[in-house]
Amino acid sequence: MTVILDGKKLRDKILEELKTRLEKYTLKPTLVVILVGDNPASRIYVNNKKKTAENLGINSIVINYPSDVSEQVLLDKINELNTDKNVTAILVQLPLPEHIDKFRVINAISPKKDVDGFTPENSGRLFTGEAPYVYPCTPKGIIRLLEEYNIPLEGRHAVIVGRSNIVGKPLAQMLLNRNATVTICHSHTQNLPEITKTADILVSAVGGKIIGINMIKSNCVVIDVGIFKDENGKTRGDVDFASIAPLTSYITPVPGGVGPMTIAMLMSNTVELFEKNL
Ligand code: GUN
Repeated sequence: MTVILDGKKLRDKILEELKTRLEKYTLKPTLVVILVGDNPASRIYVNNKKKTAENLGINSIVINYPSDVSEQVLLDKINELNTDKNVTAILVQLPLPEHIDKFRVINAISPKKDVDGFTPENSGRLFTGEAPYVYPCTPKGIIRLLEEYNIPLEGRHAVIVGRSNIVGKPLAQMLLNRNATVTICHSHTQNLPEITKTADILVSAVGGKIIGINMIKSNCVVIDVGIFKDENGKTRGDVDFASIAPLTSYITPVPGGVGPMTIAMLMSNTVELFEKNL
């Protein structure tokens, strides 16, 4: 029987817990989100983050710059936020326009306010095994979802399709830390179906219809990180859910799986940074 990994239900439970946790403080966290340009998907994500934060009693400020903003303006703003005692968490929404060096911008964020866990100090700590201030939101949400459903990781083969700094690479490390055997596949991987068929846990983070019925082993766990609108305007993930779900032991829906968990983990990271700063 297939179990649907319900990210919305777990998100709601986590947000309730965070709300209670924050009620005991008179001070509140302040999350500042920097959004450059008018990418519609980014705008939706940022609005969702703001709404969720406000429901928890987290101060949330969105600073929106035009797409032609200079890198220096962003660096100056981040430096100002780093030294502002009232600001406890900083997020720069990605992607950034081409003319901006995203590494310089991310590297400018104080690691103690880096709510994504993307700075070299935090990602370096993750990769060496020293705890970062916080873990990246999407991988953390995936691990939390797997744990909630008591899905074992130790010794199991996790195959991740996608090698981004936001999902694939940090998730690989977090799974390794839990003693999974990890394979990362990407756009140059040869014989992708042969590899994905060996997965006990298959994670797809590509953003395109990629995982078909010929690519999975029966009873595997499928985590779909992809989210996009198909040619008919329907929201869907990387996985052909209708045909694949019956073959799996556990699977995330899209929407309603990984997406809500990412937001919940952003809130969790915001609270963790705030508490470390008290
Ligand atoms: N763009 C897509 N996902 C993310 C994320 O987790 N953090 C940031 N900062 N930008 C994103």
